[in-house]
Amino acid sequence: MTSSYGLNGRAALVTGGTRGIGLEVARQLADAGALVCVTARGREDVRRVAGELGGIGLAGSVADPDHPRAAVDLVLREFGRLDVLVNNAATNEPYGPLMEVDPDAWHEAFTVNVEAPLRLVREAWRAWLREHGGSVVNVCTEGAAHVGPNVGAYGTSKAALLHLTQQLAGELAPRVRVNSVSPGLVRTEMARFVWEQGPVELPLGRIGEPEDVARAVVWLASDAAGWITGADLLVDGGTRVRAARPGGYAVHDRLRSSAPRPS
Ligand SMILES: NC(=O)c1ccc[n+]([C@@H]2O[C@H](COP(=O)([O-])OP(=O)(O)OC[C@H]3O[C@@H](n4cnc5c(N)ncnc54)[C@H](OP(=O)(O)O)[C@@H]3O)[C@@H](O)[C@H]2O)c1
Repeated sequence: MTSSYGLNGRAALVTGGTRGIGLEVARQLADAGALVCVTARGREDVRRVAGELGGIGLAGSVADPDHPRAAVDLVLREFGRLDVLVNNAATNEPYGPLMEVDPDAWHEAFTVNVEAPLRLVREAWRAWLREHGGSVVNVCTEGAAHVGPNVGAYGTSKAALLHLTQQLAGELAPRVRVNSVSPGLVRTEMARFVWEQGPVELPLGRIGEPEDVARAVVWLASDAAGWITGADLLVDGGTRVRAARPGGYAVHDRLRSSAPRPS
């Protein structure tokens, strides 16, 4: 059950809102009474999810330079306000040792995972947040705090997003709060190549579900977190404290031996 947390009647933009964590964030925001706009590349998915949530949607890639302004314009035109921005869309490619990754794919990872969130914040700031206030939540990853096999581009870009979160939190206070949520392994399409190989031992006994992460995102976005900015909320089932217990780390073993299917 989601408390409304003062989100009733607020307007929210969720990138990558058609499946996985983003869909659950959009769903919980809508359940809390917020007006929701989702984005994703898949046009039919955007149409379906927007309809299911009684909201609106925009199909396109966050990497498209025109997309951030189009998304913010749409939300302002349809809802007349934009209180919450959730930068959730991301790519975990290119996969492999950094000496071997294609420079264009590396650049694309930074465009999607770092530059697009900044562009979206800038557009939202100019159009609404500067004058009226609001909150931003960036979805990072538990893995941004340490290195791991074959995920150097992803981890480096998410570490940059973590830093960007804190920089923006300082620059945009007091009107706008900017925080991040860092999930551990969650049962979504992006991480399927890791979790479908079998159970992963974690201190809290299971891998994450999108709902676990979405609850944290919605809480941070809401007035319930009104005195919190520049924070990173780890939602990882104890992944980061696993070293206190016996056994290795199955996720790194799997990242060493398998790759996600190219999109
Ligand atoms: N799952 C995990 O274990 C895990 C762990 C740590 C962090 N995270 C982070 O959690 C966030 C959500 O990931 P997820 O696991 O929920 O992934 P997911 O299930 O693959 O969903 C990704 C969503 O983003 C959209 N998307 C992907 N690329 C996009 C682009 N360039 N422009 C616009 N939309 C795009 C996808 O739709 P289209 O394909 O139609 O565009 C989809 O709606 C990401 O920031 C990810 O890095 C996930």
